[in-house]
Amino acid sequence: MAKGKTTVYFCQSCGYESAKWMGQCPGCREWNTFAEELIDKKSVSSSGKLKPAGASGASSPVPLSAIQAADEERTTTGMKELDRVLGGGIVKGSLILVGGDPGIGKSTLLLQVCRNLSMQGRLILYISGEESLQQIKIRAERIGDFSDSLELLCETNLDIIQEVIARRKPQIVVIDSIQTMYKEEIASAPGSVSQVRESTGVFLQIAKGTGTTVFVVGHVTKEGMVAGPRVLEHMVDTVLYFEGDRYESYRILRGVKNRFGSTNEIGVFEMQGSGLAEVENPSEYMLSGRPEGASGSVVACSMEGTRPILLEIQALVCHSYFNNPRRTATGTDYNRVSLLMAVLEKRLGVQLSDCDAYINIAGGIRMNEPAVDLGIVLAVLSSKMDLIISDDTICFGEVGLSGEVRGVSMAEQRVLEAKKLGFKTCILPKVCREGLTRMEGIRLVGVRNVKEALDAVRQPGTGTAAKKF
Ligand code: TYD
Ligand code: MG
Repeated sequence: MAKGKTTVYFCQSCGYESAKWMGQCPGCREWNTFAEELIDKKSVSSSGKLKPAGASGASSPVPLSAIQAADEERTTTGMKELDRVLGGGIVKGSLILVGGDPGIGKSTLLLQVCRNLSMQGRLILYISGEESLQQIKIRAERIGDFSDSLELLCETNLDIIQEVIARRKPQIVVIDSIQTMYKEEIASAPGSVSQVRESTGVFLQIAKGTGTTVFVVGHVTKEGMVAGPRVLEHMVDTVLYFEGDRYESYRILRGVKNRFGSTNEIGVFEMQGSGLAEVENPSEYMLSGRPEGASGSVVACSMEGTRPILLEIQALVCHSYFNNPRRTATGTDYNRVSLLMAVLEKRLGVQLSDCDAYINIAGGIRMNEPAVDLGIVLAVLSSKMDLIISDDTICFGEVGLSGEVRGVSMAEQRVLEAKKLGFKTCILPKVCREGLTRMEGIRLVGVRNVKEALDAVRQPGTGTAAKKF
């Protein structure tokens, strides 16, 4: 073995490092994920001890008040949805990881960002290790015109990339993708944990050292195959996940970690023939195509960060012919649905244990906020009792184990969003109702428990019994 090199075992799933091989990873509990890697002792210690920006030489403690925080400089990406997720734009010198399944549109999104930023006259370097220059050109032609301040490079060798960045001094660098980058001194293959970690360390130094903003694309692959971007999450400033159904045209960009803004924000895009288009009003988008006058359908409101999103919850409850009734939940938590159905059975005496139940959040979006509980409850009751809930009724609230409807945060924003979209009645927790004094143009019905919620939708004008046909 060469001098200075040593062998370590890395979990290919979470990056856990061990001196010897193990069957099960103590970090992520996955089996058979340890792979032997030859690493350079020197490079590991250098990346393992990265100095945070501004920490150089500051070995004596300083009072907080004595530190001058310069206003962070933010650059708009020209896409409002992306700016929102980033917390108001790109921060100079930040390292941003964009993760997501293959083919979801990461390269397209970043190329569009490059286009917008290059139009502002910034020097951008787009480094691709996956596609040839011609392929990028073909994609770019679908997106639109580009300015000359966008430069492309097809390269995977980190030393060359470092040299090019030092020479060209771009303001923004895009790396597509981190799994293709490699450092020659490290023996393991590109995409392995040590290569990915080392490459990220290099880009971290570039970002913090020169104030360049670096976007890094990371693929989410099946665990155990190659190092997923999870290992990188600790190292970067911002982690964005691009998700969505490949068969649906919309895509959701979700902030999972953000050192310069709040997380939980989402940006909604739609994949079109000419790249990704922003969806400014996702509620309208999610509700399009809603059935009218059908039982088992109700509109609920969930918050994604600071933004309320209205969505249709559908339930189909029918007699079961199995010993174990079938229950499925699409877009929400299965266990939560089972729990809510048990609550209905116990507290309202609705016989559900011999029924199959299928719950679906229409539009393919995933919502786990407890505020959609009331929506699930009403959709199940609506389907079971064949009760049509009026199209202009919306509901939100958390349901507890004794059937009580509990308060949720940001009630006002939710009601305002419902009002904006033309809803006439809002069923909400009583405590939230009391907090909202003036609200014109929408009828607010405060409910304390599921029984009251059911009564509310049964009232004339809110819900009617379905016609049998
Ligand atoms: P891509 O951005 O390459 O995904 P990733 O980098 O995440 O692997 O491609 C996304 C998909 O979008 C691809 O299958 C082709 C499609 N697409 C469009 O529908 N319209 C477009 O304008 C572009 C550029 C791509
Ligand atoms: Mg790509």
